Amino acid sequence: MIKIEVKLNNNPYPIVIKRGLKNNLSRYLKKLQLGNLGFVLTSPKVYKLYTKTIKKNFPGKKFKIIVSADGEKAKSKHWLSKIIKTILELDKQNKKPFMVCLGGGTIGDSGGFAASIYKRGIPCLQIPTTLIGQIDSSIGGKTAIDLPQAKNILGSFYQPKAVLIDPDFLTTLSKKDLREGLAEAIKYGIIKDKSLFSLIKNNSKKILNLEQGLIDKIIYRCAKIKAEIVEEDEKEQKGIRTILNFGHTFAHGLEASSQYKKISHGKAVAIGMLYAACLSCNLNRCSIKEVEEIKKVLESYSLPTKIDFNPQKVLNAINYDKKFTTGKIRMVLIKRIAKAEISTKITAQDLKKAFKKIN
Ligand SMILES: NC(=O)c1ccc[n+]([C@@H]2O[C@H](COP(=O)([O-])OP(=O)(O)OC[C@H]3O[C@@H](n4cnc5c(N)ncnc54)[C@H](O)[C@@H]3O)[C@@H](O)[C@H]2O)c1
Ligand SMILES: [Zn+2]
Repeated sequence: MIKIEVKLNNNPYPIVIKRGLKNNLSRYLKKLQLGNLGFVLTSPKVYKLYTKTIKKNFPGKKFKIIVSADGEKAKSKHWLSKIIKTILELDKQNKKPFMVCLGGGTIGDSGGFAASIYKRGIPCLQIPTTLIGQIDSSIGGKTAIDLPQAKNILGSFYQPKAVLIDPDFLTTLSKKDLREGLAEAIKYGIIKDKSLFSLIKNNSKKILNLEQGLIDKIIYRCAKIKAEIVEEDEKEQKGIRTILNFGHTFAHGLEASSQYKKISHGKAVAIGMLYAACLSCNLNRCSIKEVEEIKKVLESYSLPTKIDFNPQKVLNAINYDKKFTTGKIRMVLIKRIAKAEISTKITAQDLKKAFKKIN
């Protein structure tokens, strides 16, 4: 078992990484003492695959299972209000409700957001079951749902009480979803950790085959990097946490401009990172060597490096999200692998010019 402590002044919590942990969740739940009525939010796929595990760990008297949607649909107004309604119906007689998010990033984001607004906050436990969930979204307390206009536009900072990670969950994950998680893992390498980048670059076959030692290393390294960044800048006020958004400005613009239907988050991040690298190169921050290195690693995981999109629509979505109020926006660029930097001087013209490299 590996434990990473997220050392925040007001909301410290542990991240526990352990294979086989899903068979023993009730033990951890008892220790955590989150309340006496648990709402377990999950997705149809996860519920189907893990019905026995869920029923065993979350028995009927103390828990209510809420099965929302697979994919980005879970992060909608529709599902948010359904979750809140269910909690309202059952949270009577002064029961102490708490939320358990058991699923991918969309379940963690939407369940975490519901937990943060119900009665101004009830305890929330994250049990991520996708690679994106385990290395990124469950850690750090960013919760949100989407609106048609923009992704993650209704959200809060709300730290979980604990994050319980069982890498064994990944054995049922589709190769597609595994690749998407690896896009975010590559991101950590690019912004912060050269040896992680090399490990991912040099072992694509073994990693795609879920070789345990490698997968465990990746989860640990990424979770640790995320925890350290969040400790330094919990609410993204110091510009430190911002580097985690590497590749995400373009990714979110692309996702929103296609109404979250055409492209998934991981793929959007992959192309968004290549885009950010091209932009960095255009602005003489990095050399073409970095762009090619990133392209190569994405290709080795069959992640997209070219994409058909409507530049104006993406620009509009980016503009909605980031606002060119001063004619310029802030974006994460790279100088070299493991060295990211923030520029506040990106113009719409810079963005448009770099679009051509990936369109
Ligand atoms: N809050 C944050 O800091 C943060 C960080 C990164 C990403 N995100 C968000 O995370 C979301 C993407 O997360 P995701 O990629 O996990 O997507 P997801 O939650 O949609 O999961 C992908 C698919 O995998 C299925 N699934 C989940 N666990 C499984 C398992 N063990 N076996 C088989 N199938 C399984 C799900 O039902 C779904 O169909 C995006 O909305 C993104 O914005 C948030
Ligand atoms: Zn992401």
